[in-house]
Amino acid sequence: MSSENKYQDAIFVGEESPYELKHFVIPDHYTDDVDKLLIPHGVVIDRIEKLAREITRNYSDRLVVCCVLKGGHQFFADLVSCMKKLPNREGKSLPIDHDFIRVKSYENTASTGNVQISMTEEELCNLEGRDVLIVEDIIDTGRTMEALVALLKKYKLRSVKVASLFVKRTPLSNGFYPDYVGFSIPDTFVIGYCLDYNDVFRDLDHVCSISSVGIKKYMSKNKTPS
Ligand code: HPA
Ligand code: MG
Repeated sequence: MSSENKYQDAIFVGEESPYELKHFVIPDHYTDDVDKLLIPHGVVIDRIEKLAREITRNYSDRLVVCCVLKGGHQFFADLVSCMKKLPNREGKSLPIDHDFIRVKSYENTASTGNVQISMTEEELCNLEGRDVLIVEDIIDTGRTMEALVALLKKYKLRSVKVASLFVKRTPLSNGFYPDYVGFSIPDTFVIGYCLDYNDVFRDLDHVCSISSVGIKKYMSKNKTPS
């Protein structure tokens, strides 16, 4: 896919937000920490309902939906909650199994990624022959997800697909593009809807960019942002 075409399925979120913060409820404890409101919570929910429709009708057999923690948990919860009520390819209900993983990436070189995942060898072997949908919050460089998919493919799954709520338009992208995408977002650090900055802001419902005050206030003393 060309770099322009690949964003066609996602809602394009521009650099300039059409929304004013004063029109939305931002928790008092984050008033100074938010810069722009990029996507209101209600729009996120509507988009997930549509993704759930598209995903559910592409499957017929029992599906494993695998949540990448921590950031993917809210997307996973809202997505699965919709999918449970929707018909599969044959117009029947779709049985859904839940799985949860933590993923850590580390790079040997600038261009290749490797991942460490929290699943045991036995758990990975149990995925043989299954349809698996990985649910991720955001694809940024794409390195972690590319390496995770490559690792899972070694375990002879019937299919492995990726749903990411956000894809960042960044020059650092390795070209990885998920099978299902909610929003294409600008190259800025986003928080809210479970996306964090140093584990803060997961309790903010709207998707926002962080202010310089927020960056400074929650700067980690001993770790990098997750
Ligand atoms: N926000 C939160 N987590 C992230 C981001 C972001 O913009 N990019 C990669 N992980
Ligand atoms: Mg993530």
